[in-house]
Amino acid sequence: MLRIERDYSLLGHNTFGIDVRTSAFVEYHSEEELSETAAMLADGRLPSPWLHIGGGSNLLFTKDWPGTVLHSRITGLEVLYSDADTVTVRVGSGVVWDDFVGECVDRGWYGAENLSGIPGEVGAAAVQNIGAYGTEVKDLILSVETLNVGNGKRRVFEAAECGYGYRRSIFKQSENKRYVVLSVTMRMGLKEHYNLEYKALSTFFKDNMQDVSLRLVREAVLSIRDSKLPDPAVIGSAGSFFTNPVVPVAKLQELQQQWPDIPYYAQTDGTGVKLSAGWLIEQCGWKGRSLGRAGVYDRQALVLVNLGGASGADIKRLAEAVRSDVRSRFGVDLHPEVNIL
Ligand code: EPU
Repeated sequence: MLRIERDYSLLGHNTFGIDVRTSAFVEYHSEEELSETAAMLADGRLPSPWLHIGGGSNLLFTKDWPGTVLHSRITGLEVLYSDADTVTVRVGSGVVWDDFVGECVDRGWYGAENLSGIPGEVGAAAVQNIGAYGTEVKDLILSVETLNVGNGKRRVFEAAECGYGYRRSIFKQSENKRYVVLSVTMRMGLKEHYNLEYKALSTFFKDNMQDVSLRLVREAVLSIRDSKLPDPAVIGSAGSFFTNPVVPVAKLQELQQQWPDIPYYAQTDGTGVKLSAGWLIEQCGWKGRSLGRAGVYDRQALVLVNLGGASGADIKRLAEAVRSDVRSRFGVDLHPEVNIL
């Protein structure tokens, strides 16, 4: 049954722990319930504008939401097809992402283990193209099944139509926000293979390659994350606050004159080089510093945290101060990865 709440606190629905309210909050459990919700939005039984959230792990609310907040409770994992090498699964948008990864590891399915521990849900993972330790969810996705909340019609997007790039998809563009993810179809490997190229992971396994297993990779990723990223249940945050900036090679060369050790990663798509936003922020002296109740995490400068009782506006003010310092010192503009509302 549809769950509809009026004048509802979103405190439990955003990992920054910001206490804002929404005029209406709706949780649906099926495509039919989402269609019914779309009809209620169209005829005004639910207030507009609407906003769809997942686990709230990539959101910063700076004010109350004047309309309706939607949240998927579509669960389930269905095996559609398998052969000797792969298994194709369809997963409900409301499944907790890390529960899915745990399930893959338990069943011996390869491909998602480097994405262990990422907060949020499957639908949002496909919108955001979540990534970590050299893997992005787009590497697994075959198609994304959606409902167009504007006209109530179902539409399936093949992976090639999703416009995937670094933390990017067409679903993030304002004209496509009407497509709400119902489920995501992913292809997992059945043959043993690992992606251990990311430095922190290769270092972890360097003397113990014979021990590598799906379960150990998951544990390694969880422990690396644990050493750098705050547990949202303890310290409010939304993971990385900014994306890592991609700059032209000429800009890197200019920066190298003054900072020869600046970390960078060549981009395979010819767009330039990716710099580490965390490094840039740390060089500006922000690591571990705070502005009121909003802070820069002392173990990972790319993570902004709620030190307790911060408002969304406090976090935004800190983000602007950090961004402005990075711009004036390095001439590089940082862009929020977090959706600021
Ligand atoms: N660095 C510093 N100081 C810091 C933080 C980072 O100098 O305080 C430098 C170091 O050189 C380090 C490098 O940045 O070697 C990379 O740091 P890290 O491995 O922690 O990764 P990141 O680039 O800061 C990205 C993702 C994370 C993801 C990790 C691991 C983005 C915006 N963030 O962070 O994703 O877990 O790589 O793959 O791409 C998220 O999106 O919320 C997120 C946590």
